[in-house]
Amino acid sequence: MRGSLAAAYAWLDERFDLGALVEFARHKRVPVHRGSVFYYAGGVTAFLFLLQVGTGILLLMYYRVGTDASYESVRYITTKVPFGWLMRSVHSWGANLMVLFVLLHMLSVLFMKAYRKPRELTWLTGCALLGLSMAFGFSGYLLPWNELAYFATKVGTDIVGQVPLVGHWLLRLVRGGDEVTGATLSRFFGLHVAILPALLTSLMGVHLLFVQTQGMAGADRAKKTMAFFPNFLLRDAIFWLVVLNAVCALAVFFPWELGKKADALASAPTGIKPEWYFLSQYQFLKVLPGRIGPVAGELVGIAVIGAAGLVFALVPFWERLVPEGRRDRAVELFGWVSLAVLGAMTAWGYLS
Ligand code: HEM
Repeated sequence: MRGSLAAAYAWLDERFDLGALVEFARHKRVPVHRGSVFYYAGGVTAFLFLLQVGTGILLLMYYRVGTDASYESVRYITTKVPFGWLMRSVHSWGANLMVLFVLLHMLSVLFMKAYRKPRELTWLTGCALLGLSMAFGFSGYLLPWNELAYFATKVGTDIVGQVPLVGHWLLRLVRGGDEVTGATLSRFFGLHVAILPALLTSLMGVHLLFVQTQGMAGADRAKKTMAFFPNFLLRDAIFWLVVLNAVCALAVFFPWELGKKADALASAPTGIKPEWYFLSQYQFLKVLPGRIGPVAGELVGIAVIGAAGLVFALVPFWERLVPEGRRDRAVELFGWVSLAVLGAMTAWGYLS
């Protein structure tokens, strides 16, 4: 076996100079310190994305899009297709865990200041990946065409309509008309199974290429490091297995509900809320007064949320305005305050 592998390697190396590739994989070293466990968050996110693609392709085998087919096909998947219920629950729990790990990865990168020169673009591609991951959640949520998803999508897309000047155009673009209908379902389906996968895959490729090219932040200064390939990667794989088990356990013990089919003529059930990762924004918009001076409260809310996102994305640049001696503390404080505000608004949204 060892002989044939070596022969295959030599054959390929003669034709493609694998040496450079192996060196490229091998040169990356990972710092070993108290916070090293957070280095697995990015890899786990990538693994969960692959799990989503795998289970998504299986669901696509039976899922049919349309107001008279989507709900029925998901019900067929969960009641008639062998292990269909498991694939659907793994896909739903996987989506939530992927967003959780993206946030964990982003916060760990922030507190480790791993966005600093020369990694500003890694950070910015990361911010875009966060946006794409949440768009995946939002578009996928509507596809079962059940009551919860229908009204949550109505609330979510209503917010888009508040954007000044282009609001109504944007709303019609997202919904495929003035209301949430079969046209919205088709658009969200196209977004979820074609546009977003293409965007996220290519952007993740760029993100990982940056990381592989530049190496891990702090590796050059760290007292102790470990080779990424194979040592760190094998540890990564153990984490993926643990996460896979966790997703399967959640899917088995808390299978994802389907609920009632969406009915556009019915009134919205009380207590409709978006997914947890949209709750803080939703609650913030909800508690704002109808009007703030001459401006609609929701409009002010959208502007504040947009500005907060921008401040977050531009951390690598505005932190340079802080005197060097106080920069680390300023960014840590910014991180903790952001976490506290997001956590409090999410809890408030969940409890109210
Ligand atoms: C689909 C989403 C994402 C995936 C799959 C992903 C994947 C990864 C992986 C595998 C690494 C190397 C190991 C590690 O540090 O964890 C990494 C590093 C990095 N990521 Fe991400 N990431 C994602 C989103 C983000 C986000 C949202 C941000 C920030 C806003 C971000 C910023 C960074 C930075 C700055 C590094 C370099 C860290 C260093 O050199 O120490 N990433 N990413």
